[in-house]
Amino acid sequence: MIIRKNRTELDQMRRSGMLVWKILQDLSQMVQEGVTTQDLEVAAEKMMKDAGAKPAFKGYYTPAAGSKYPYVLCTSVNDQIVHGMPSAKTKLKKGDIVSIDTGVQLNGYYGDSAVTVPVGEISEGTKKLLDVTKESLELAIDKARPGNRLFDICGTVEQHVVGNGFSVVREMVGHGIGTKLHEEPQVPNYVDRRNENPRLKEGMVLAIEPMVNAGGGDMRVLPDKWTAVTKDHSLSAHFEHCVAVTADGPWVLTRP
Ligand code: MF3
Ligand code: CO
Repeated sequence: MIIRKNRTELDQMRRSGMLVWKILQDLSQMVQEGVTTQDLEVAAEKMMKDAGAKPAFKGYYTPAAGSKYPYVLCTSVNDQIVHGMPSAKTKLKKGDIVSIDTGVQLNGYYGDSAVTVPVGEISEGTKKLLDVTKESLELAIDKARPGNRLFDICGTVEQHVVGNGFSVVREMVGHGIGTKLHEEPQVPNYVDRRNENPRLKEGMVLAIEPMVNAGGGDMRVLPDKWTAVTKDHSLSAHFEHCVAVTADGPWVLTRP
């Protein structure tokens, strides 16, 4: 069942969304050569604490990993797709890309968003990967309107990515979000005709999160049981926003 939210609930989600936006904004500005992903983690945890928010990821259990995720951020560098773990050993270098993914809970409602940030100057090819991934998210957001269907979102990401010569990751998906971090429906970045294709209705909130590889779409998980990496070691980018379906069109809760 897809839980729809009323205006009061959406306003609550908006507060969580704006905190996530502010955190990602500040972390993006910290990113430069020599900064470690642990530095980003420490800054993020402080911002959440100061705002009186609960981290959405720290302590989150997934059966696939068989453990609780230990950090407030996922920091996924270069060929890491998602769920990379912050570490004092991971020092960012010029030309790297780092996906910063985070979520918070305020008053029982979640916000979740991710950006991929370049470290200093990056190559033309890497820039295209970031641009195409971000564009695929923007095009998909525009489909989050009453009367459209879930596949309009999934197919829009897939077409834009594949049309530009990149691959979507099929093993990881976006999701509904609300009083839980992960609610129905799953939001894959491709059309899977075996899935249901519900009509989008006012009050639905979707976390749309294209994960895009420069090479093939295959992934594997590192022995830490969390970090997803590209099988062919190609670069991977990730952007995410929470979007409410409203009568006035898509309302992106995780940016101003
Ligand atoms: N943005 C990701 C998601 O929504 C991050 C989850 S990390 C976890 O699935 F640790 F919370 F699982
Ligand atoms: Co998410």
